[in-house]
This record gives sequence, structure tokens and C-alpha cells, in this order.
Amino acid sequence: MSEATITYKIALAEYLSGTSDNISLFWKGRVALYALLKSYGIKKDDEIILPAFTCVVVPNAIIYCEAKPVYVDINPQTLNCDPEEIKKKITDRTKVIIAQNTFGLSCDLDAIMKIAREKNIIVIEDCTHGLGGFYKGKKNGTIADASFFSTQWNKPFSTGIGGMAFSSDTAIAKKMQKFEEDAISPGFMERMQLSVLLKARSIMKAPAIYWPMIKLYRFLSKNNLVVGSSQGNELETPSMSEGFLKKLAEVQANKGISELKQLDAYNLHRIEISKKYNECLSSLKITPPFQPDYATHTFLKYPLLVKDRNEFLKLAEKENIELGDWFLSPIHPVVKDFEKWNYTMGAFPIAEYVSAHIVNLPTHPGMKESSILKICEFLSKNKSMLITE
Ligand SMILES: Cc1ncc(COP(=O)(O)O)c(C=O)c1O
Repeated sequence: MSEATITYKIALAEYLSGTSDNISLFWKGRVALYALLKSYGIKKDDEIILPAFTCVVVPNAIIYCEAKPVYVDINPQTLNCDPEEIKKKITDRTKVIIAQNTFGLSCDLDAIMKIAREKNIIVIEDCTHGLGGFYKGKKNGTIADASFFSTQWNKPFSTGIGGMAFSSDTAIAKKMQKFEEDAISPGFMERMQLSVLLKARSIMKAPAIYWPMIKLYRFLSKNNLVVGSSQGNELETPSMSEGFLKKLAEVQANKGISELKQLDAYNLHRIEISKKYNECLSSLKITPPFQPDYATHTFLKYPLLVKDRNEFLKLAEKENIELGDWFLSPIHPVVKDFEKWNYTMGAFPIAEYVSAHIVNLPTHPGMKESSILKICEFLSKNKSMLITE
């Protein structure tokens, strides 16, 4: 393990008030989830509960273990799973509940943990959106049995791509480390491409080139022409691609060391921006996103519902307004063959409605006052396209 990787691990462990033995580092967050599930002994026909409003790589990792993803509809306010809905999905085969921090908002973990404890079920926090946020004063990722994180481009901080798993259970943490040790190292080309992409991103942050850059990157990664968040067939079929189980590279560790130091500042900035969007929406008589008392919402993305998303995104592109499209389907970004992921279209009406109408406003560290103003003017001008409640 490189010096940088060791330093990064220690820094992450300090951040999560654990020791470096509690942490394992991987090429992507989805690899960390897979390694965690395997470390808990997840096997054929086990059932794993997850929200019906997530990224497809989550059910992918479950299916790679030959287990069955069991979806739960979301609450329209929190965009997370309701504990009561989770309860209805538990069977004798349920082994794990995945509690996601959607857009930076923690689930109501006490309620979920209570249900899980009664049935001897493991709770894994999907902290890919929630690093640096809090649940009842405790850091996201430190409350459930284990957690996993992502440091992909759009995450709380970025190492380009990257992931880690955290567990304070020594036996599980040891198994995780074995997965990390046995994982293959990223190849020379992958490391080089990632270094170049990281450099390119730092000089190409201007909102004016957001749309062409996003399109180019998605095209290149979909066609496996560049290391991407998701490689081609991952989005088409849930079968593990060769070389899936990869370690974190040194270039990621180096970037992670410097990014982690800025995480709290990034999150404060995101929260400040979300307040400005709240004001903007309130002035348009639209209710801002719900914030429960139990958690600090770090607003990795600021959700907004629109009547016709395609039209709205087209207008945004024309006016150079940066907008996201998470999650454009209950298992983003899949739009067909849902049954391959054990997802039944029509069964999760809230998630399906939200994913058909959602757009996200950016809150990332590069957002300036002028860009926020421009977005608010855009929303005001197109108010008739927004869903008001
Ligand atoms: C909710 C959720 N979980 C897991 C992941 C996987 O993270 P990674 O891209 O690092 O594999 C993502 C990725 O965007 C996500 O949105």
C-alpha cells in the first residue's frame, strides 16, 4: 500500500472517529458496497432492502452476490425510505437494509436500526451523498453497522472516481481489508486517464462549458473510451465486469488527502447555497425541500420538480444553466428492462413520479453568487414549468 494511501486512510479514519483498520479503500463506491455485502456473507437468495430511488450500481452489487434487491418506495418529502414501508418488506430472508443519504439527507436511522435489531438485520448506510452530514449530531456513516462512500466527480468531495467502506465491527473490517488486499490494482492507462481528467476538471469549471463537457464525458465513458463513473455494460445488465474489484490508486489517495481537508468548507458552502435557493423558491411560492429536525441536510444536490423535464433541461442547456438529472429513473439511469434488476415498473408510484419530474440545482464548491442569481432568474422566468407542491 502506498504512503499516500496509508495517509489518506488515517485522515478518513480520524474524520469518522475510527481507526484506519476500520476503513477499506476501493476504485469506486460500488466496489466498496460489494465488498461489504460479501464481508457480511451475503449469498444466493438473501434479500437486501434498498430505496426505489437510487443508482443502478447499488442493485448491481447486490445481484453480483446472487442476492435479491427488494425495493421500498420513498417518502415524497425526504426522498428516503420510510421506516414503516421498510417494515412491510421484511421477510425471513432479509439480511441487510441499505439506508441511503439521498442528496445529503440521512434516513431516520434510529427508527430503521430499531426495526433491524429486532430481526437481526444488518443496516448499511449508503453515504455516497452524505459524507460530512449529521444524524442527531452524529456523523453520517458512523451510526449503522457499516457504511460506504463515493468520491466520484459529483460527490461531497471528489477524487475523480473512488470509494471506501467503514465498519467499526473489527471482524467485518478485517474481512473488508482482505477484499482490499486481494483487489487488483488499476492499470497504467486507467491511472493516467484519471490524472489527466482530474487536471482537466480543475481548469474547466466554467458554467459555460458545463453542458458540452457533461455530454462528452458521458459519451466517452459509456463507450469505454475513458475511465468513467459507469462503464458501458454496467448500465445494461447486472453482471460483474472483468476487473470490477479494484483497489484505490495512488492518484486518488493524493487527491483525497487534499480534498478531505476541504470537506467541511464544501458542505457549509452547499448549505449556504441551499438557503439561497430556498429564498428563491419561497419568493416564487414554491415550498422548498423538507428538512427534518433529526438530520443536517448537506444538499449535495438541491431537488426541484418540474412538469416537463426534457423541455426544462433543453431550455436550461440553451441558456447555459447548469442542471442535474438525478435520479431520472428509480434505478438511475436505467430506462428499460427493469426486471433484470428485480424492479417492477408501476410498483413504486412515488419514486416513479419523482424520478420522472426531478431536476437538481447545483451546490458544488465552484458555484458563485452570479451563477446562483442566474439560476434564480431562470426559475422565475420559467415558473409556469415548476411543480408547486
Ligand atoms: C445513491 C448512490 N449509491 C451508490 C453510488 C455508487 O458510487 P460510485 O459511483 O462511487 O460507485 C452512487 C453513485 O452515484 C449513488 O448515487
